[in-house]
Amino acid sequence: MKIAIVGTGYVGLVTGTCFAELGVDVTCVDTDASKIERLRSGIIPIYEPNLELLVEKNHKAGRLHFTTSLEEALPEVEIVFSAVGTPPDEDGSADLRYVLQVARTIGRNMERYVLVVTKSTVPVGTAAKVRAAIREEQDKRGVQVPFDVASNPEFLKEGNAIEDFMRPDRVVVGTDSERARDLMTKLYKPLLLNNFRVMFMDIPSAEMTKYAANAMLATRISFINDVANLCQAVGADVNMVRKGIGADSRIGNKFLYPGCGYGGSCFPKDIKALIRSAQENGCRMEVLEAVERVNERQKGILFEKLARHFGGIPNLRGKRVALWGLAFKPGTDDMREAPSLVLIPQLLEAGAEVVAYDPVATDEARRRLGGAVAYAADAYGAVLDADALVLLTEWKEFRLPNWEVVGRAMRDRVVVDGRNIFDRNELRALGFTYYGIGVL
Ligand code: UDX
Repeated sequence: MKIAIVGTGYVGLVTGTCFAELGVDVTCVDTDASKIERLRSGIIPIYEPNLELLVEKNHKAGRLHFTTSLEEALPEVEIVFSAVGTPPDEDGSADLRYVLQVARTIGRNMERYVLVVTKSTVPVGTAAKVRAAIREEQDKRGVQVPFDVASNPEFLKEGNAIEDFMRPDRVVVGTDSERARDLMTKLYKPLLLNNFRVMFMDIPSAEMTKYAANAMLATRISFINDVANLCQAVGADVNMVRKGIGADSRIGNKFLYPGCGYGGSCFPKDIKALIRSAQENGCRMEVLEAVERVNERQKGILFEKLARHFGGIPNLRGKRVALWGLAFKPGTDDMREAPSLVLIPQLLEAGAEVVAYDPVATDEARRRLGGAVAYAADAYGAVLDADALVLLTEWKEFRLPNWEVVGRAMRDRVVVDGRNIFDRNELRALGFTYYGIGVL
């Protein structure tokens, strides 16, 4: 089976490489020539565990190709996946420019049947727009080549994307034709052997499923963050409360960790887009509006804790603050919408000095923040002479530091744990002042 994947961003590259690993002949297409050139020589533009290895292996095996020309790839393939970006417009709605460009290129060049599958997260109704754009281009050419459109949203988590692809909880496919359904069944057959479920449904429901899943997950996070802050105010421990409610199988214990707010490329963008899409359709997503507000507030909570500890914002001037973690979560160098990008400007604005360490996101941070922040070579280097340490990303290597060494290196033993990963009793016994999220 031969397929093309347009867009070699996070989703496109992971999806293409994984299908190639399953034996499908995959051509990845991107208009960025230098990116394609680098991919051909095995250099991948993102950090994702095992991805580089798999790209190299499948490229060498001749199952994974890279090109800038969709026109050239098109005659060879039965399915084209569109995994191009859908950046938020100024008003928060998803910008479909790239998705529709791909559709138009297909419409202009197709000579035989092709199934056009949207992987990008797109508002309900996008498949219909893709279909219309392809038809329009065919009409201009005066041809009527048959085609189908389908929606196959991705549920990959950064840092765990290969595993998520190979062992998904479910695969959601929206189709409206027998032929499209058969093709998608054939494509996912190698994974079907692993006993997971492909859920076929109508196209709008598939498009909506992706948004609703992310919205539900983000809601859990804002909910538990709200509960955490109240716990703190009334003298309860959110860790206990989280376990207590998570034991109810209707609630479940996953994805219920309080922290310094959700970030990344999906939740913030998708929540805004869904709120916007509801407004456009005469509805309101009132819960989600609150989810977003709570998250914005939560990203500011670390700064608040620091300011309160030092007796007000003016007292932060000249303080040296060490940050452990810059990425929006562990396992990635992605800093999009990361809490660090809220905290760092607040600290700099207050006149504090910031020294950061992240196992993989330092280059990304330099690109975004320039020289405003100093970067340490390791976690212990970052805390040297620091007046406070803030943990932002729960990388494994931060879980069990040698606190004696950290304490000796710091000027003042203050720890703000933005992810509740440290043992507060141990820290307090060593003379640290400890602040967590929703714990006393
Ligand atoms: C998410 C969805 O999980 C995935 O299915 C979708 O396809 C894309 O968006 P991702 O953005 O990679 O994936 O990260 P995820 O691991 O879901 O974490 C999202 C954010 O929520 C992170 O900022 C994380 O720190 C935060 N989070 C997650 C919490 O604060 N608490 C939790 O309990 C879980």
